[in-house]
Amino acid sequence: SSILRGKDFITTQDFDRTEIDLMLDLSSDLKRRFATNDPTPLLPYKTVFLMFFDQSTRTRNSMEAGITQLGGHAHYLDPSTMQTAHGEVPRDTAMILSRYGHAIAVRHCKFKVGNSYLRSLAENADVPILNLQDDIYHPMQVMADIMTMRERFGANLSGLKVAITWAYAESHLKPLSVPQSQILLFTRYGMDVKLAYPEGFDLMPDIVDLAKKNAEGSGARLEILHDMDEAFRDADIVIPKSWGGFYVSDDPQEIMTEVRRNKDWICTPERMKLANKRAIYMHALPADRGREVVDEVIDGPQSVVIDEAENRLHTAKAIMALTMGGRS
Ligand code: CP
Repeated sequence: SSILRGKDFITTQDFDRTEIDLMLDLSSDLKRRFATNDPTPLLPYKTVFLMFFDQSTRTRNSMEAGITQLGGHAHYLDPSTMQTAHGEVPRDTAMILSRYGHAIAVRHCKFKVGNSYLRSLAENADVPILNLQDDIYHPMQVMADIMTMRERFGANLSGLKVAITWAYAESHLKPLSVPQSQILLFTRYGMDVKLAYPEGFDLMPDIVDLAKKNAEGSGARLEILHDMDEAFRDADIVIPKSWGGFYVSDDPQEIMTEVRRNKDWICTPERMKLANKRAIYMHALPADRGREVVDEVIDGPQSVVIDEAENRLHTAKAIMALTMGGRS
């Protein structure tokens, strides 16, 4: 398919449901073909540049392994060793890398900087800009989340009850991009989403408003609570995480006080019992074991975290193949 060729992938909001379903269907197909050692040379001789301003395990390796499986090449770039570190502007970086390769993928999570940097690249690049997580969105992660849900519950996700919870502020720089991208996408699929977090750990109001609009369009629901148990009650999917609340504080001392205050916001077997019997436990990883979840849950039978991480590979391949594919 060539309908997505050349498009940036910065947020799932830029794609309609048909396009997202196309990406998911291709992801499943690529997963099947990977399992049977069937070659998938959809991007021969193509290069994706990977600029990582922040650390990564899953995102970097799923992109690198993914492009290899498509017959192309990933070029890892550490911005601290590029002229970016000397102040080279995104316009120049975007124009030059566009002459060398076929996509520029970037992780830049710095609050109030990351997404603007990606948008500047996108304005000036001739090749797709792929978002590997910024301060607002993590679209690659939520594509893998939806793929994992489809594997567990079938293609119709409408009406599924999802609890997304988070608590303490480990660092004000720790992004809330994952729950923000989750609410934007899950509400497109008709899910009944409950957010629960202590007072003061709000997501960006614009994103919540956008998710509510999405919900109106699909018959989904989006509810905000401040009670973890209430969110878990009868849920089909629980996604407890410990995203930092960037509105809370810049002061490490104050942050630690907050951590201690919210130490009960942890996923335990007792809490899992509040959810539906067939409920699955999801987590983008890395997990903060002992503070946000206990081993018994994350390593237990309801956990799908390894499948979810595996699906990062296949969704990344589908997104690269569709945006970078074809001959231009
Ligand atoms: N979930 C996720 O993005 O993992 P990494 O930070 O390891 O890439």
